[in-house]
Amino acid sequence: MTEVMQTLVLIKPDGVARNLIGEIVSRCEAKGYVVRELKSIHASRELLEQHYAEHVGKPFYEPLVEFMLSGAIVAIRLEGHRVIEGFRSLAGATDPTVAAPGTIRGDLGRDWGLKVQQNLVHGSDSPESAARELALWF
Ligand code: RTP
Ligand code: MG
Repeated sequence: MTEVMQTLVLIKPDGVARNLIGEIVSRCEAKGYVVRELKSIHASRELLEQHYAEHVGKPFYEPLVEFMLSGAIVAIRLEGHRVIEGFRSLAGATDPTVAAPGTIRGDLGRDWGLKVQQNLVHGSDSPESAARELALWF
């Protein structure tokens, strides 16, 4: 049997502002994953700069940090076998316009014509990222 994994899920400020916390958590639970920890926070710039260190210098970096500072974020420690790739599958592609229907971003997101894609959720992309990000947020 594979090891039980954990991933960091963030419901970004657009998801919180649009009252989609329940819908998004419900999709995670319906899939069978377990919510181990959940909290609502206003992230600091310092936390976001650490979280998005890999994107420093990209054109969307500053708009991304500003967007993530714009409101409350819900952070979730989600658990289950292969949950890292499983949640990325539930979330769908980064660009909500082309994210597949059936995914969180595909069903609930759209392009708003802004400098950065608002796509409702974040999910860690590897075991190394998950460990690093969970230690930052929890
Ligand atoms: P995430 O880290 O949020 O789970 O999303 P991801 O892996 O699918 O995408 P990533 O490449 O890590 O980008 C992080 C976030 O930056 C915003 N972004 N906007 N061209 C754009 O407008 C653009 N590219 C990236 C998105 O909010 C993306 O989730
Ligand atoms: Mg990413």
